[in-house]
Amino acid sequence: MSLPPGPSGPHLLQTMGWLSRPGPYSRRLRARYGDVITLHVERHAPWVLLGDPDHVKQVFTGDPDVLHAGEGNAILKPLLGPRSVLLLDGSEHLQQRKLMLPPFHGERMQAYGDMIRAIAAEEVASWPTGQPLPTRLRTQALTLEIIMRAIFGSRDERLRDAVNALLEFVGRPSSLVLSVLGGTRANAYVYGRVRAEVDRLLAELIAARRADPELASKDDILSLLMAGTDMDDVTLIDELVTLLAAGHETTATALAWALERLARHPAAWARLREGEDDYLDAVCKETLRLRPVIPGVIRMLKAPYEIGGYTVPAGVAVVPSIHLVHTREDIYPDPLAFRPERFLEQPAGTYTWIPFGGGVRRCLGASFALFEMRWVLRAIADAVVDLRPVTPRSEGTKHRSITLAPRADGRVIVARRTAPVRRAQPVPTGR
Ligand code: HEM
Repeated sequence: MSLPPGPSGPHLLQTMGWLSRPGPYSRRLRARYGDVITLHVERHAPWVLLGDPDHVKQVFTGDPDVLHAGEGNAILKPLLGPRSVLLLDGSEHLQQRKLMLPPFHGERMQAYGDMIRAIAAEEVASWPTGQPLPTRLRTQALTLEIIMRAIFGSRDERLRDAVNALLEFVGRPSSLVLSVLGGTRANAYVYGRVRAEVDRLLAELIAARRADPELASKDDILSLLMAGTDMDDVTLIDELVTLLAAGHETTATALAWALERLARHPAAWARLREGEDDYLDAVCKETLRLRPVIPGVIRMLKAPYEIGGYTVPAGVAVVPSIHLVHTREDIYPDPLAFRPERFLEQPAGTYTWIPFGGGVRRCLGASFALFEMRWVLRAIADAVVDLRPVTPRSEGTKHRSITLAPRADGRVIVARRTAPVRRAQPVPTGR
């Protein structure tokens, strides 16, 4: 049994390289060691990064009893709770995933369209013009509002403030250090305290919903989960926190990256504003390719595993590297260029475009996220005539928990249109 090659320096240095500049760092490692690389992250089992789509396919279609994603996501346990679908493995995971899928089916998306369109238009109308706007903060408020309306069917300001406070804590650099380097007990204690208010409010909401005689006729996600499954309250709370946390910061970050890129690519922005749906879709895909919100997905090996000519021992993690796959010259010529047209020329491949991971663990909210991105970008393109960068230099990345956000929060300067656009509805599809 052998570990593939990789840097031999101190583990702390490797950890810093990964945390501070994951994109350039992993590309440097690829240039030196190839497509299968061992990385040592402090206090974690070794990671084997995979940058070849054939290896990614092998992992995504492999045996989930050998490739444990839930265990790989353990860093999220203090935040999401042990019953979160993201933390489960094996039959427990499959069962729970099946219960949670119906509200996220493609055909359900149209039901969310009007709501998303209205909230997005209202939000964009409030954006200040002619001054630097940190878009991630605005898109985050917007996507939180949207996911809360989708889950609960109505606004709840107390819960919104509590979720904001929770994610503000999670996004602090010190919290990432605590998650990576702190022990299990310290993490459980700290996160238990910051989650307490969210849990209390969710328990109240669930109790009220259980007593609601109209429950069966409601079509918000909470009602669908309560009426369609026999999930107990503790599990429901973990899943709601999962949907609230996984379901808005990721999409908000992707939207901020789209604006950061578009502001520096006036031709792409101009073409987007012409209203062609396929181009809108291509902008979303190219943004998620070039600036993936999550750089890689982790599978903990429960048995020795043959991959790329190596037999990797149990206890090591294999990590399909989203960033490495997305920056392959042979699949994406001129890979660091932002060029949405590439997705008009060739469709996104199952194992070559992987911002949502894959296999039985593929993001449950992928359709929802893409649908939301398209509607929000459309609302922005309809309302904003001019989009300019604050500085000509592209923004680097910063970690916010496990997500990679624009370092200056996607700052742009917008000029709004004075009269609303009249467009035939609806525009984006649930593709
Ligand atoms: C642009 C936005 C998003 C990105 C980039 C993203 C990315 C991801 C990734 C990479 C995974 C792990 C997949 C794997 O291990 O193979 C994941 C899982 C998951 N995501 Fe998302 N996500 C986004 C939006 C959402 C939304 C909107 C929701 C829900 C409303 C959501 C809910 C989930 C859940 C529940 C899982 C766990 C699936 C499982 O373990 O079976 N995500 N997401």
